[in-house]
Amino acid sequence: MENRLLIDANGKQNELNDLFGIFFEDLNHAADGGLYAELIQNRSFEFDKIDNPDYHAMTAWECVENSGKAAFHIETSNPVSARNPHYLVIDIKQPGKDVGVLNTGFNTGIPLKKGETYYFTCFAKRTEPQEALEVSLRSRDGKVYTSASFHVEADWTKTELTLVSPAEDNCARLAVTVKGESSAALDFVSLFPADTYKGRRNGLRKDLAQLLEAMHPRFLRFPGGCLVHDGSLDADDRNSMYRWKNTIGPLWERPARRSNWGYNQTLGLGYYEYFQLCEDIGAKPIPVLPGGYDPHHRRVAPLDELQPWIDDALDLIEFANGDAQTTKWGAVRAKLGHEAPFGLEYIAVGNEEVGEPFFERYPYFHKAIREKYPDIKIINTASPFAAGGEYERGWKSARENRSDLVDEHYYMAPEWFLANHHRYDSFSADGPKVFLGEYASHGNTWGNALAEASYMVGLERNAGAVKLACYAPLFCNVDYTNWQPDMIWFDNHRSYGTPNYYIQKLFMNYQGDYTLPLIADFAEENEYPGPERQNISGELVFAAGQEDGKVVYSRIEITNDDTNETYRFSDITIDKAHKESVVGHLDWTNVTIKCTAKELEGFKGFKIYFGKNAEGDKLEWELGGWQNQDDCLVEHTKGGSSCLSQYLFTVEKNREYELTLQLRGRSIQTFVDGK
Ligand code: AHR
Repeated sequence: MENRLLIDANGKQNELNDLFGIFFEDLNHAADGGLYAELIQNRSFEFDKIDNPDYHAMTAWECVENSGKAAFHIETSNPVSARNPHYLVIDIKQPGKDVGVLNTGFNTGIPLKKGETYYFTCFAKRTEPQEALEVSLRSRDGKVYTSASFHVEADWTKTELTLVSPAEDNCARLAVTVKGESSAALDFVSLFPADTYKGRRNGLRKDLAQLLEAMHPRFLRFPGGCLVHDGSLDADDRNSMYRWKNTIGPLWERPARRSNWGYNQTLGLGYYEYFQLCEDIGAKPIPVLPGGYDPHHRRVAPLDELQPWIDDALDLIEFANGDAQTTKWGAVRAKLGHEAPFGLEYIAVGNEEVGEPFFERYPYFHKAIREKYPDIKIINTASPFAAGGEYERGWKSARENRSDLVDEHYYMAPEWFLANHHRYDSFSADGPKVFLGEYASHGNTWGNALAEASYMVGLERNAGAVKLACYAPLFCNVDYTNWQPDMIWFDNHRSYGTPNYYIQKLFMNYQGDYTLPLIADFAEENEYPGPERQNISGELVFAAGQEDGKVVYSRIEITNDDTNETYRFSDITIDKAHKESVVGHLDWTNVTIKCTAKELEGFKGFKIYFGKNAEGDKLEWELGGWQNQDDCLVEHTKGGSSCLSQYLFTVEKNREYELTLQLRGRSIQTFVDGK
């Protein structure tokens, strides 16, 4: 008999609709220095220590005094825009032919292509308007490729010029030099290639946008990520959470923003540009809004001050979909250049929030959106964990509020993706659906991509319960890595898709309309054999949550629950000198490990490893992980780690906890103080 796959071509099952899409977050310099085609770094002299301890207002700028001398200082008394208060003043001390500033761009510099056109924009003013300024494109060692002179008024004057590069150079600089004797002030110094994606002004880098277009993503989730909710509550604050209204309108009016990824966001790639990108690549927009709560710093908008946050959500829907003539925000959109609605269908409130303050606030957003826009699909969020207390909390909130979708996030070892191929088989197609808004296996090898492909087959098969899925993160500038792996890597002039990219592209390019019933009729049953061992076998190791922590484990007791043999151990102290202690090697099926644990120094609690083998694969029970906020069960395989389950838990110093770890074959339960 032959092996056969039987496909019932008449048996239409689940529609795949918008299943596979992409997620863009400005980390790894994905926007500034990446997709956003601006070539000048720190164009408004707004870089600041708030963004990054190494930043200052002159980051990426160098003083030029090849002929002539000047004093350079940053002022704020009379800016182009109060929202971008810093500007550069060049006080000429000794006039010369080549005195001013130059910008070093991103990576190795400004990438120039021979014969290509570049748009230069800047605001400047001079005490003596008849004296000229000069903009030039030049090599790293000062050779001027092309230049143009311009004059400005005694008050801020906007200049726009076109430059054509006669040279090919990936390390070029843009210089603005000052002729004559009078002082000059500069702000918003910008350079864009004319050849952007779809030729748009303030546009996107063509090669990067084309890689996205080629995927044919059904949707684009944006603008983050943690970037959305990491920040202060005041929208006018430099350090504020991501507030979309700050990201539209004239570029020089958009406030520079500190991003939690350790750099500065110009917000030049703002909500209008995101919607336009979605339209250009044929993807449905899925904006993510903060829910008035920053879980990283536990900043919470008081309930009686939540309305502006809710209004942000309602106004965004109106901005995207409202009539250009009869609605306030629809008119704003039209004024920006897009008369027709953008056709928003989804909105997400929150990004992997943990903690009650979010779930207390979510219903207010949900109710307001549902009442005003019943057709918009509302996305709730279920923590950055694949299972556990906060994950369940998100789903509970989604069921109670009747959210349309729940955003799940997890980054795991490839082995986890293979082992969890059937994760969604048991998920119901009734009630809230799954939006797998961030996932990736740890790596950019073909092995990782294949593990993800296997998982995506599982997503397709369960398209009744899983409605949207996107890999993360999307982009990484090789010289500014915050997070890896990533799907697409680039520098200032090159880009390439990883194997993970090509898998995503494959699934998107060939996404079907619906699933068909499939029966595997095999001559020989060749079922997945399951794990080789039916128990967890290996070393038991006690450690502290952090390298220099000091913790004491006492009353240690290990019981073989099949034979009732019990072994007792004397106290173990973990400290700087004695970082971990191997208690023994266990190879039993049903085991209970008990002890008490107390933290004396440090702030990240306890770590108990078990099932540790010679290759270093192991399981870990971590109490007080991340910012001493989590109780996690983690699996370490081949150097990668997968958080199997998480609960909120904070270790208090000098308090004794009773810990119990119970193994039943390969099933694990952990208890703290009997809970
Ligand atoms: O994708 C990288 C980060 O991972 C995102 O900002 C966040 O949502 C998640 O923790």
